[in-house]
Amino acid sequence: SSTFDFVVAANRLPVDRSVSLDGTVTWTTSPGGLVTAMESVMRDREAAWVGWAGFPGDAPAPFDDGRLRLHPVGLSAEDLTDYYEGFSNDTLWPLYHDVIVPPTYHRSWWNAYRRVNERFAEAVCEVAAEGATVWIHDYQLQLVPAMVRDRRPDVRIGWFNHIPFPPVELFAQLPWRAQVLRGLLGADFLGFQRPDDARNFLRSCRAVLDATVKGDTVRWQGSDDGRLGGSPRVARAAAVPISIDAQGLRELADSPAVRARAAEIRESLGNPQVVLLGVDRLDYTKGLRHRLRAIGELLADGEIAPPEVTFVQVATPSRERVEAYRTLRQQIEGTVGRINGDFSHLGDTAVHYLHQSYGREEMAALFQVADVMLVTPLRDGMNLVAKEYVTARHDGGGALVLSEFTGAAEELHSAYLCNPHDIAGLKETILRAIRDDHEEKRRRMRMMRRQVRTRDVQAWADDFLRALEMAPARPPRAR
Ligand code: G6P
Repeated sequence: SSTFDFVVAANRLPVDRSVSLDGTVTWTTSPGGLVTAMESVMRDREAAWVGWAGFPGDAPAPFDDGRLRLHPVGLSAEDLTDYYEGFSNDTLWPLYHDVIVPPTYHRSWWNAYRRVNERFAEAVCEVAAEGATVWIHDYQLQLVPAMVRDRRPDVRIGWFNHIPFPPVELFAQLPWRAQVLRGLLGADFLGFQRPDDARNFLRSCRAVLDATVKGDTVRWQGSDDGRLGGSPRVARAAAVPISIDAQGLRELADSPAVRARAAEIRESLGNPQVVLLGVDRLDYTKGLRHRLRAIGELLADGEIAPPEVTFVQVATPSRERVEAYRTLRQQIEGTVGRINGDFSHLGDTAVHYLHQSYGREEMAALFQVADVMLVTPLRDGMNLVAKEYVTARHDGGGALVLSEFTGAAEELHSAYLCNPHDIAGLKETILRAIRDDHEEKRRRMRMMRRQVRTRDVQAWADDFLRALEMAPARPPRAR
């Protein structure tokens, strides 16, 4: 088997395998922002991508997707429950998103997390050529950097966190906080979405490991603690905000097929004056309950009403076997049912709720139809939907309502920013985004489009890889 100078490791491969009842195998694009961004960066690179193929059981053999070698890692049913649904999505995910729901701590899940991280590290070492660059992604693989470093001191290791990194006051809850930090410090460079995330990480290193932090550089003496192991390390941590393939999306959004589809959608909604749109994975971090609360009150106040104003919410199915996601789905669907029961009329629907996932073309068309886009998470590492929306509006129209608690808000200053916890403020902001004059809206959209165009996903990858290239390979001499 061959080796590669460039290796990516992420929990998911860019494609998910699914088998239909008649046994036909199909590969579809994996969900989430990580794959959206990385897929476009990696498309034409000669590299290996190590990841899970999206179904339980033994890994399929490595295979090629263009110039990319996909190297599947197998996850058993138990790994899925304990490592993926458990530790990754019921411990780390809520802990790293401001404990919006309480994180669950189970020692058996931690053991599975370690075991699966080992498996990823082994796979990485198998495909990495001498001196290769290894780029590890996200919260599911935080132990992989040190595990690779221990086996392969020759490679250069970067890690990028697609989600927030919590303040030390929250991170300190994690029973395995020291092991996680030690795992991360295997990397030469650690990239985060916001400067605050990088700072939170550096503060945690100081508080938990007693590491020395100067500027964005952390020095750790190593430890003979059997749980931690590890020799002295130096790493850099900084913000490198992720982005989208702006040009690709602009071209797609401008295509005759997408334009035609947009007209068709508007028509099928009954040509309303104002379409409000939300597009999210069905996740408690996305602020869907707060958003529906605001919409429900605006309808009750008579400020908005169908058929003139209609709200379309795409809620992509996600992590459906995790309890908190099941509860959320019931709540959301109950609320949507109540709102429609109270405010819809025959033929005029107040809330169009779609528990489905759509391809790129359909999304680009939906963005054209959205007069006001609602991106109102309680906490979100970046939120690429916000960047996609402003970019897809090549016609200059539309308005973006954006939560302050997203990474995107650090860059898209011209959005209608809101605090989603403040329902009164959220309602006012939505109304402002509907009613502001045309020129003001166009001005805001223009500024945001320019921002995303100059800071696209290629710029992100270039910045990350340059920082990784320059990161200290060995401890600098003490001054
Ligand atoms: C976010 C995470 C990704 C994850 C995606 C989809 O974007 O940062 O790591 O892949 O959500 O979630 P899932 O659990 O389906 O992979």
